[in-house]
Amino acid sequence: MPNLKVKIGKLKLKNPVMAASGTFGYAQEFKDFIDLKNLGAIVTKTITLKPGQGNPAPRTCETPAGMLNSIGLENPGIEGFLKEKLPFLKKIGTPIIVSISSEKNPDEFVILAKKLDKIKEISAIELNISCPNVRGQKIEDRRQKLISQDSKATYEVVKSVRKVTTKTLITKLSPNVTDITEIAIAAEKAGSNAVSLINTLTGMSVDINTRKPKIAAITGGLSGPAIRPIALRMVWQVYQKIRIPIIAMGGIIDTSSALEFFIAGATAISIGTANFINPKITIEIISGIKRYLIQNKIKSIKEIMGSLKI
Ligand SMILES: Cc1cc2nc3c(=O)[nH]c(=O)nc-3n(C[C@H](O)[C@H](O)[C@H](O)COP(=O)(O)O)c2cc1C
Repeated sequence: MPNLKVKIGKLKLKNPVMAASGTFGYAQEFKDFIDLKNLGAIVTKTITLKPGQGNPAPRTCETPAGMLNSIGLENPGIEGFLKEKLPFLKKIGTPIIVSISSEKNPDEFVILAKKLDKIKEISAIELNISCPNVRGQKIEDRRQKLISQDSKATYEVVKSVRKVTTKTLITKLSPNVTDITEIAIAAEKAGSNAVSLINTLTGMSVDINTRKPKIAAITGGLSGPAIRPIALRMVWQVYQKIRIPIIAMGGIIDTSSALEFFIAGATAISIGTANFINPKITIEIISGIKRYLIQNKIKSIKEIMGSLKI
């Protein structure tokens, strides 16, 4: 059997396939479809300090080879998460990565991280500094930058969280930038143990009959196969500039699209939108990767990481 084990910070994964934040709920939603303990890791929907209702509906629509969403971090808040969601997650036996966010007040990242640091069943914290759907509804507010659109702000948030937790820290980056490598370098310098990329690309869609935007927040995050070549290009660029592991995502829907990312330099991959099409896709991709390694007589997944031939 080929070796699928990888390490991300202190986190040891039995295989490098994760479920991406916001597309897998709090795992319970998928328990009837797959054996959750076979996943490499599970990333929760992003949690904020206070409960969030998210954006007004409609919040999703289909696009060519993808979808737009403007869920806007609907979540039960940290206390609701600890009480209602964590007990189930603790029992699974798969590493749990809790995604946290606050675009309006960066100090909240520190408060959230301090609370999570105390819980031994939580394996890692992912800093979602890249959600494009949480700013005010007013158009003028949208000009405000995301933390992950500024290398200094990224450095400061990661650094401040690093001081309060010894858990593996992952920073999730936005593709809505000119040069993602600058942001990745800032996260690494500030002590992040890994980077996750990419979050969604800002996009929009119009209903020509009503002349209204198809989602109420006007713009939303584009995900799915449509963004894969961009995600892959960014993983490749970042891989050449940092030494910490990359958790790659963006349009992975099958084994071959997953493998593309390992070859470009990813240490692990995460599946998002594809979970909505096929809730068993994570497990199918783990089997597919094993098959590919066996067929090609490759002993360990590590052998293909960053093996792009130029
Ligand atoms: C409906 C939906 C909700 C999402 N919610 C979150 C979230 O709460 N936090 C986060 O970091 N990313 C969120 N994402 C982004 C995904 O985790 C992922 O980065 C992105 O969709 C690209 O991967 P994919 O093409 O495989 O979906 C969301 C994506 C979708 C489609």
